[in-house]
Amino acid sequence: MPVSIGEKIQLNIDKIVYGGEGLGYYNDFAIFVPMSVPGDKVEIEIISKKKNYARGIITKLLEAGAERIDNERISFEDFHGCDFGMLNYEAQLKYKQELVRDVMEKIGGVKDVEILPIVGSDEIYNYRNKVIEPFAYGKNHEIITGMFQKRSHDVFQVKENMLSSKLSNKVINKAKEILNNEKRISVYNEIEHRGILRHIMTRTNSYNEAMVVLVVNLKKVTKDVEEFLSKLYNQVEEIKSVYVSLNTEKTNFALGKTMVHLFGEKTIKEEISGIHFNISPSSFFQINLGQTKKLYNIGISYFDNIKDKYIIDAFSGTGTIGMMLSKEAHKVYSIEIVKSAVEDGMKTAKENNIENMEFIIGDVNKEIEKLMSSGKKVDSIIFDPPRKGIEEKTLRDLTNHKIDEIVYISCNPSTFARDSKILIEEGYKLEKIQPVDMFPQTVQIEVVGKFSLIKS
Ligand SMILES: C[S@@+](CC[C@H](N)C(=O)[O-])C[C@H]1O[C@@H](n2cnc3c(N)ncnc32)[C@H](O)[C@@H]1O
Repeated sequence: MPVSIGEKIQLNIDKIVYGGEGLGYYNDFAIFVPMSVPGDKVEIEIISKKKNYARGIITKLLEAGAERIDNERISFEDFHGCDFGMLNYEAQLKYKQELVRDVMEKIGGVKDVEILPIVGSDEIYNYRNKVIEPFAYGKNHEIITGMFQKRSHDVFQVKENMLSSKLSNKVINKAKEILNNEKRISVYNEIEHRGILRHIMTRTNSYNEAMVVLVVNLKKVTKDVEEFLSKLYNQVEEIKSVYVSLNTEKTNFALGKTMVHLFGEKTIKEEISGIHFNISPSSFFQINLGQTKKLYNIGISYFDNIKDKYIIDAFSGTGTIGMMLSKEAHKVYSIEIVKSAVEDGMKTAKENNIENMEFIIGDVNKEIEKLMSSGKKVDSIIFDPPRKGIEEKTLRDLTNHKIDEIVYISCNPSTFARDSKILIEEGYKLEKIQPVDMFPQTVQIEVVGKFSLIKS
C-alpha cells in the first residue's frame, strides 16, 4: 500500500486540478492536497484514501512554489472559503481560465469554442456584500463567529474575514462585543439542539449601509434578543435594516422560514445601470458588485439585438438582468421561484417606472413551457441558474419552441459544460464563452456563454 491514513510524507506538487486542489505523485500514487501550489514541496498528513488516490493536508511548507503568496492569514487546513487564497491573483486567473477549458473539453466535449480571457476583479479582498457566520463559544467561553472547519462543524474565528465587506466585519465585531459584554443570550449547540444564537447574516451595499439578520433557535423574538438588536442598531449608524430569522429546525440551512422585521427599512438598495434594486433578506443578489456590473453588461451585449424583442429572464432573482434588458426590449418575462425576490423585483420595477416586465413566481422548468404553450411570443432567453444548472427536458424543448438565441450565465462550469453538450446536440452552436472572476481567493468560476440555433 503506497500510503496510509495518518502517515506523514513529503510531496512535490505538480499541478492544480479541477476543484482547485494541487496534485502530486508519491511512488506513482496520486495525492490531492488542498491549498497547495505547483512547485510547492510540502510535508503532508494523509487524511483520506481511496483505491486510486489519497488526500492530504499540508503540515509543513518545505519550499514554496513561485506562485504562492506569503499570507499568514491563510491556514492550510481551515480556510474554508479561501481555497485559492495562497495563489497570487494573476495565477488564480490563469488557473481559472485553464479549468474552464478543461471542463468544457472533458464534460462538454467542446474543443473548438472561443474562450475569451477571464475578466479579473478590481476588488480582490473585502468584496462580499453578503456574509453568514455561525456562532460558537471560543476557548474562554467567549462568543465567537467564523466559519465551519473543513472537516467538522467546529467553528473557527479569523481576525478579519478578508472576503467580507469592511462594513460587514465592523457590524459582526460590534455584535460580538455587545453579546460578550452582556452575556445574556446563549449560543446554539447543534448536537444538543439547545441555546439561541445560530447565525448572523449581514448584507451591505455600495452606499455603506447594512442589513442585519440574526438567526435564532426561538419560536418568537424574546426581550433579550430585541434589546440586543436595538443596541446594535443604535450603536452602528450604517445599519439600516434589522431582522430576526426564527429557525428551530435541525437543519444545515442557516435562515429559518419565519422572518421578523424589527427595525429600520424592510429592504436595502443597490444601484446597477441607474436602476435602484430592492434586496430583502432571502432574495438572491450577486455578492461582488463591481464584477456583477461587468457580468451583466457582457451577458446583455451577447444578444444580437434587443430592441423590440420578447425575452425571458429565467432564474431572475430580484429581476436585475431583466430590468436592464427592459430598457430596450419590447417585453421581458422574469421567472423566479423565491417569492420575496419576485416581490422585491415588482417593487423595484414600480419605483423605476418599468412597465414592460411580467413577473412570474414559479419553477423555470415548468413556467417556460407554460408560456410557450399558451402561444406567447419569445425570441430569446437568458438563463442564470443556481449551481445545479438546468433540467435536461427544459433544454431539449427549446429547439421545438424555436428559441433562436440563448445567453447562459453560470456559476458552475461543470453543469454549464453538461448543459452546453445538450444544447449542441439539439442544434445550437456555442459561439463563445467569457469567464468572469466573481469570487477572487476562491476556486469558484462564473462563465457567460452565447448559443445560437443553427438554421437548417
Ligand atoms: C444564480 S441566481 C441568479 C439570480 C439573478 N439572475 C441575479 O443575477 O441576481 C439563481 C436564482 O434562481 C432561483 N431559482 C432556483 N431554482 C429555480 C427554479 N427551479 N425556478 C426558478 N427560479 C429558481 C434562485 O432563487 C436564484 O434567485
